[in-house]
Amino acid sequence: MLHRYGIDSVVLERCTREHVEGRVRAGLLEQGTVNLLAQAGVAERLARESLTHAGFTLAVGDRVHRIDLEALTGHGVTIYGQTEVTKDLVDARLGNGGQLYYEALDVAVQELSDRGARITYRHNGASHEIECDFIAGCDGFHGVSRRSVPRQAMQVYERLYPFGWLGMLAEVPPVSKELIYSNHARGFALCSMRSATRSRYYVQCTPQDRIEEWSDQRFWDELRARLPHEYAERLVTGPSIEKGIASIRSFVVEPMSFGRLFLVGDAAHIVPPAGAKGLNLAAADVRLLHQALVEFYSSGRRTLLDEYSSRALARVWRAMRFSWWLTQLTHKFSDEPFAHKLQLAELEYLVQSPAASLSLAENYVGAWRD
Ligand code: DHB
Repeated sequence: MLHRYGIDSVVLERCTREHVEGRVRAGLLEQGTVNLLAQAGVAERLARESLTHAGFTLAVGDRVHRIDLEALTGHGVTIYGQTEVTKDLVDARLGNGGQLYYEALDVAVQELSDRGARITYRHNGASHEIECDFIAGCDGFHGVSRRSVPRQAMQVYERLYPFGWLGMLAEVPPVSKELIYSNHARGFALCSMRSATRSRYYVQCTPQDRIEEWSDQRFWDELRARLPHEYAERLVTGPSIEKGIASIRSFVVEPMSFGRLFLVGDAAHIVPPAGAKGLNLAAADVRLLHQALVEFYSSGRRTLLDEYSSRALARVWRAMRFSWWLTQLTHKFSDEPFAHKLQLAELEYLVQSPAASLSLAENYVGAWRD
């Protein structure tokens, strides 16, 4: 997006292109994210290959209820893998001659002054230095950007959850045309997909679970056990293409900027995956930051740069609340019967009340005014 406005940038990536393009990531895009990709000129393949979903299913034991997103909000959601978004962005970047260095090692922020910033790194065995006006820290939760900020300059808000998600990708047709979020006495399960022939499934596991303990057979048996009968009967199984365990946390740092460094996406915030907000929040940060940089370079004004953190955080906290809420509604936290009964009562309310359904739907599709 910066390139489109004639603003020079350099992208540093620690891993190889093969690694980045081989990782299985999230897969649900809000309309705002699709619009942003179209604005960036990288939505051609997305338009051809993505699926659009007008709703999703909430399952509680054997009961199922469809949330009609389209009828409730006027918006659906788009299914298109984050990895595919990355490939499209990389193709566009390299296609227009932009600088992008894979295997950039020992990236370090050396200076963050009022006048500018300086970054050093190693690439192909040689040391390099970049002097720049701004740094966009898009390097994820474990990246160097956030760690370059003095500890006392940022406040951390964090919550860990007593479970993980075991995800699996398989070349089998999805069990349902739309997503299924299932609250089951054995734990949460999610049925998603990447295409009409490729399924993406998740089951809640313990934080101690190790991937070697989960054979494909065990995964399929557990998923089937957590689905309503009508879907369990239809589940098509096959060998996994990928399987992995993710820990689940909520995390925010405030503010999201320090001098000339601006944190973007997971570098500043992590949500539990249930609401599918991680990638969409990152895209919303990108929208705000590129607008701020365009304003700065076209007029010299810093208004949007100064407002970046507070504007981004307003959306971040809305998504934090929603992701936390959907997680506590659908996951098994303990064996306490009272807690389970409260979940059932809330799910019942959600299904019965148009107001409650709308609240869920408008948060899910991300139809918020910024
Ligand atoms: C996917 C992941 C999510 O966390 C979610 O809520 C919906 C879909 C996915 O990977 O397809």
